[in-house]
Amino acid sequence: MDTARELDNRNRADDDAAKPLIDVEERSMQDTPYPEKTVGKPFVDAPKMKLRHVNVFYADNQAIHDVSLDIGKNEVISLIGPSGCGKSTFLRSLNRMNDTIDICRVKGELHLDDQDLYDPKLDVVELRARVGMVFQKPNPFPKSIYDNVAYGPRLHGLADKKYDLDEIVENSLRKAGLWTEVKDRLHSPGTGLSGGQQQRLCIARTIAVSPEVVLMDEPCSALDPIATAKIEELIDELSESYTIAIVTHSMQQAARVSHRTAYFHLGRLIEVNDTETVFTKPEHELTEAYITGRFG
Ligand SMILES: Nc1ncnc2c1ncn2[C@@H]1O[C@H](COP(=O)(O)OP(=O)(O)O)[C@@H](O)[C@H]1O
Ligand SMILES: [Mg+2]
Repeated sequence: MDTARELDNRNRADDDAAKPLIDVEERSMQDTPYPEKTVGKPFVDAPKMKLRHVNVFYADNQAIHDVSLDIGKNEVISLIGPSGCGKSTFLRSLNRMNDTIDICRVKGELHLDDQDLYDPKLDVVELRARVGMVFQKPNPFPKSIYDNVAYGPRLHGLADKKYDLDEIVENSLRKAGLWTEVKDRLHSPGTGLSGGQQQRLCIARTIAVSPEVVLMDEPCSALDPIATAKIEELIDELSESYTIAIVTHSMQQAARVSHRTAYFHLGRLIEVNDTETVFTKPEHELTEAYITGRFG
């Protein structure tokens, strides 16, 4: 009996020795307790979005556990963490994109200024104009460049005259850094552009309805480094007019573009701090393990 246990233990030890180091580390991190509440600075003085005790479920599986966070006016906040930790789920709960997933339930208090995002009387189409979203894969409509950008303003009746609509389209394309590249082919299909241009077109389409918040879910992960650099530059410029929350799996990108960084781990918000603090002096052991590449 004892021998069996000893043998078993020895086998287990051998197993461990045979596995790559990262796996052992990863397992040891599983013993690290979550903080009782998010460490660092989850709250700010001038919040644009106030999110309290957010819990998100897919049927019986809980993907987000009691997350409380402010998103400040005109700030760029990065959401980082290992794959599957709930970044997209959390982001999608901020403009009720999760409503489109049947089994998904969002609980908690989520406010945009004083507006309760989950007020049953709220017009969700209007909300998604105030809180726009850019996705991982550029998804222009199968329409002309012009019509892609004009789509939202038309839907929301933002321009009565052709002249006004032209102006919105031009301004949005300018802000998205795409105008000079497309001004001579506004009526060609948006899908004919390069990947990076398509993503800037999607950003132009999002900002054409003058959103207050722009959510971006890994907006550069399908792009090459040059197109990525252009989008990152753009994020910096856009933050003058908008509040931006960006999910990224690139820590370098989070460090380059964001003011604050939020670290998620298995559905929990472990730490939120100024981006520099997160990457140079993380307060929690799990954050440190992630940013030093011990798992993820
Ligand atoms: N549409 C869905 N239906 C069921 N479960 C989902 C769905 N989307 C995500 N999940 C689950 O929720 C958890 C968080 O996923 P996600 O938000 O996509 O993480 P991340 O964006 O950090 O990779 C995962 O366990 C994932 O399997
Ligand atoms: Mg995701």
